[in-house]
This record gives sequence, structure tokens and C-alpha cells, in this order.
Amino acid sequence: MYSIGQYTDFFISYLENQIIDKEPKNLYDPIVYMMLLGGKRIRPVLTLLTTEIFGADYKLALPAALAIETFHNSSLVHDDIIDEDPIRRGKPTIHKKWNTNIAILTGDAMIIQTYQYLQDYEPCIAKALTQAVNKMGLEVCEGQTWDVDFETRHDVTVSEYLKMIEYKTGALIATSMKMGAIIAQTSQENCDLIYDFGLNVGLAFQLQDDYLDLFGDTATFGRRLGGDIISNKKTYLYFKALELVTPNDKELITELYATRLVDNVKKIKIITELFQKS
Ligand code: IPE
Ligand code: IPE
Ligand code: MG
Ligand code: MG
Ligand code: MG
Repeated sequence: MYSIGQYTDFFISYLENQIIDKEPKNLYDPIVYMMLLGGKRIRPVLTLLTTEIFGADYKLALPAALAIETFHNSSLVHDDIIDEDPIRRGKPTIHKKWNTNIAILTGDAMIIQTYQYLQDYEPCIAKALTQAVNKMGLEVCEGQTWDVDFETRHDVTVSEYLKMIEYKTGALIATSMKMGAIIAQTSQENCDLIYDFGLNVGLAFQLQDDYLDLFGDTATFGRRLGGDIISNKKTYLYFKALELVTPNDKELITELYATRLVDNVKKIKIITELFQKS
């Protein structure tokens, strides 16, 4: 076993060796830009780590780790269009640096690349990995759809929120770990247990991401703060505030979340104060 830092380095060297210059530039340049933009590399590291937990060499898992990181990045390219986010990892998002059509195609191509990387495995492992990615990919789309639907709903419950984040974020982290278990050819029971563990890591991860969206440090978070408030996202901060503030403040929050046609700076300031109070 190695440290997280070492697995990250192994993954990045592997990734850098896979980068090739290809045409058309307007498709491949943004892919390379996105893949080399940094990020924590949590999902590929979890794949490598899980492979070793179940007794196989991490090197066997490098193509799967690249597949999962590519899928993750494709979901971010599309997510930034959906959330109208201008900054990712401290740099302009693809739809801002290029344009929205290019960002749609870039994300699409990265999904195809995900499946290409899985072809490196022998048929029975490739089939199991592909099935895991199919299930996860649809769940991410379902979770992302709920996330957008909830922006305009005012009756969302905490359990609906938890289901939404399980799908949009938990499924990807859980699948990163399950892929390691599949590659190590451990038992079905171990594959299922590590998947459930990953799902819970994913829930915690998204709760933290929602918190950092408002209270993170701009330099380390690499994103604009308050984007979730601008989009009227129903996050755990929102539910907790509605539960804990006075009836008057509750009415104010509900009013501010009912429209997008307001002064965003003022809206973020008022909501931040109300969240802090609760
Ligand atoms: C961002 O994921 C998307 C979420 C699920 C919150 P990360 O925070 O892992 O993004 P990077 O890859 O480190 O930039
Ligand atoms: C993104 O959730 C989840 C996926 C990309 C599937 P967020 O919209 O909260 O992620 P960030 O905050 O933009 O990274
Ligand atoms: Mg989003
Ligand atoms: Mg987003
Ligand atoms: Mg977020």
C-alpha cells in the first residue's frame, strides 16, 4: 500500500502519458485543458487504493482510474453549463473559455473516452466495469435532473435532497471504489460492501461541497462563492436554516429563493447572514 499522495502521483504520471495532440483542436484542446486543470483526483485514487485493499496491484487499475476521472470531468464540464459557473479550479470553465457548443461536445467525447479506457480489460472484467459505469452514469443524470428540478420547487424534503446527492455525487464515488474491487476480483459481497461505503463517503463529500460553496476559501476552493444561492439550489444549509430561523426570516429566505431576478450580491449577503444565524 502507498500513501494518498503517492497514488495521486502515480495517477497523474499515467494521465500525462496518455495525453496526445489530436484534431480537431476545438474538441481535444478543451479535453486536455480540463484533464490537466488539477482537481483533487479523489476518485481515481480511490480506485487504485481499493484495488490494493483487495490484494491486487494498483497498476492494474490505472486504465479504470483514468476512465472514472474522465467521466467525472465530463460531468463537471456539463455541470458548469447547467449551473452557469464561470470558474472551475481557479480557471475559466470550458463554456466560458471556448463556448457552450464546444463544452457540450467536449463532455460528450469524454464520456466515450471513459468507455474506451475500459476496453483495456479482459472481457469479463470489462463487462463488469462497463455495467457499473452504465448504472452510475444514468444515476448521475437522474441526480443532476433532480438538482435542477429542485431549483424551482419549494416543497423539497431533506430525504429527496439526500436521494438527489446520493445519485449526482455518491454514485460516482461509490463506483470508483467498486471498480477497484472488480479489478481485484474479490467477492460480490466485498464489491457491494465497498460500494455502500463509497456511497456514504459521497454523501459526506457533497454536504461538504455545499458548505464550501458559500463558506469556502476562494483561493483553495477555486470557484466563485454563493453560486448555489444564485441558482436557488436546495442544499442542506437551506433546509437547516428554514428549520432554525424565526418565522419572519423563514419568509424572507423563501421569498429570496422564489426568483432569480434579484441583485445577487445583495441576495448572497442576506442569505449568508441568515445561514450564519441558524
Ligand atoms: C466536484 O468534485 C463535484 C462534486 C461532486 C461536488 P470535486 O470536488 O472532486 O472536484 P475536483 O476534481 O477536485 O476539482
Ligand atoms: C455536481 O454538483 C455534481 C456533478 C457534477 C455530477 P455541484 O454542482 O454541487 O458541483 P460543483 O459545486 O459545481 O463542483
Ligand atoms: Mg450542479
Ligand atoms: Mg456545479
Ligand atoms: Mg457544489
